[in-house]
Amino acid sequence: MQDGLFITFEGIDGSGKSTQACRLADALRAEGREVVLTREPGGSKGAEEIRRLVLEGDKDRWSAETEILLFTAARRDHLEKTIEPALNEGKIVISDRFADSTRMYQGISRGDLRLTVDELHRMMIGREPHLTVLIDMDPSEGLSRALGRQGTEERFESFGVEMQQKMRAGFLELAEEFSNRFLVINGTQSLEDVAKDVFAAVKGRME
Ligand code: ADP
Ligand code: TYD
Repeated sequence: MQDGLFITFEGIDGSGKSTQACRLADALRAEGREVVLTREPGGSKGAEEIRRLVLEGDKDRWSAETEILLFTAARRDHLEKTIEPALNEGKIVISDRFADSTRMYQGISRGDLRLTVDELHRMMIGREPHLTVLIDMDPSEGLSRALGRQGTEERFESFGVEMQQKMRAGFLELAEEFSNRFLVINGTQSLEDVAKDVFAAVKGRME
């Protein structure tokens, strides 16, 4: 029996997903709801180990095909250890990225591998979120925000602004493909205004 609610945040690097996922978790907790805030790649011990493999190092370290396997392996562990147990307890799970990120980053960045992504998803994951918040924004602004963080996890950010343009368009197309679960939010506003829009949109779908 699963009666929890599974919400994901998606969007290009630096669009404000982590910030807004955290804000939404706080707002829902303030209403007395039990919320598990998690992220991908990662969100469980094994998946966090895979995170290091995929996000650090040289841009050409892995092929897109190998990445699909690594991200899906991480997701399967995340699902088994973190997401499903929480949903089974009736909690709200908020994940900063999920399968739509693989559909975009591995599915379209280096040739068209979307069918491969979908096939493996069907076999190994088989679950979509109830709601997906897409934080939509101009890629050059997102990239400068993301690079401003100066971390070591920059394998994907070093793909550059052209790739981020392709990702933005791809995410907007996904929002149409899965219009039953996507909420598109304008990320080029103040942090507070984005948070207000996200909360209102999510509450609107929860009722
Ligand atoms: P993502 O998880 O999508 O990569 P983050 O939430 O980590 O994005 O935000 C990237 C950077 O941009 C952070 O330094 C964050 O403080 C900043 N930021 C987030 N939202 C906004 C906003 N609405 N306006 C300005 N800066 C923001
Ligand atoms: P994340 O930590 O969310 O980065 P950011 O805060 O910059 O958005 O994710 C790290 C990177 O991993 C990001 O560039 C997107 C990439 N990624 C994939 O390529 N495929 C996936 O399936 C996932 C979940 C993430």
